[in-house]
Amino acid sequence: MKNNKERQLKISILRFDPHIKGDKPRMESYEIEEAPGMTLFIALNDIRQHHDASLKFDFVCRAGICGSCAMIINGKPDLACRTLTKKLPAEITLAPLPVFELIGDLSVFTGNWMRGLNERLEAWVHEQEEIDFNRLEQRMEPELADEIYELDRCIECGCCVAGCGTIQMREEFVGAVGLNKIARYQLDPRDKRTDRDYYELIGDEDGVFGCMTLLGCEDVCPKDLPLQSKIAYLRRKMLEIGLKSDTHSC
Ligand code: SF4
Ligand code: F3S
Ligand code: FES
Repeated sequence: MKNNKERQLKISILRFDPHIKGDKPRMESYEIEEAPGMTLFIALNDIRQHHDASLKFDFVCRAGICGSCAMIINGKPDLACRTLTKKLPAEITLAPLPVFELIGDLSVFTGNWMRGLNERLEAWVHEQEEIDFNRLEQRMEPELADEIYELDRCIECGCCVAGCGTIQMREEFVGAVGLNKIARYQLDPRDKRTDRDYYELIGDEDGVFGCMTLLGCEDVCPKDLPLQSKIAYLRRKMLEIGLKSDTHSC
């Protein structure tokens, strides 16, 4: 017997493959029957299996860990693998994340954007001295380790990039994902970089002073990172350094 709560879902997807000559962006709709516990991952596989095998989308972990399934779900960036269809209306609209290179349909290439950002911000620990392989494990206060771990939970999904109006206008802006990385390394006592070095990286309009406090980033971050408080902290810190530099140059 059919459960009354099972719905017929209408899923409309923005289809376009820039690698197919002559292909044009268009919306295509598919009707599928909702199943108990259905996620958008299951729904998209159902569409690919029963309606259109050419539909492109990305999933790796299916557990909110790899960040590869981010897309615009009813106008908001989120992870498709952890989105239950029962939390959405029966009419669902899906589109690829903006900003990133489009591979096709819902699949985007966040990897090259994130790699460029990591290289630009030198997002790795700059060791204080030559690595001493006898002392690889160094003591750190548990509270500080927790604070660093909290920021390290970023999965580079790109939701905060897609949800930020500033990046749409200024493509060099490092976004909340980039500022979160700097906040993380700035906390790390193993990193020899000084606040002045961080100022060189993010003390301008493409960095922390470009953020217009639009707040979309924190609203859409699937890992609930404290992006706003970290951006506000960095802004105050970088402002102090900027003011000191101005005073010295007068
Ligand atoms: Fe995704 Fe949050 Fe990291 Fe942005 S900060 S890339 S939204 S996990
Ligand atoms: Fe963008 Fe977040 Fe700042 S949405 S403008 S990075 S507060
Ligand atoms: Fe890995 Fe969704 S498939 S986060």
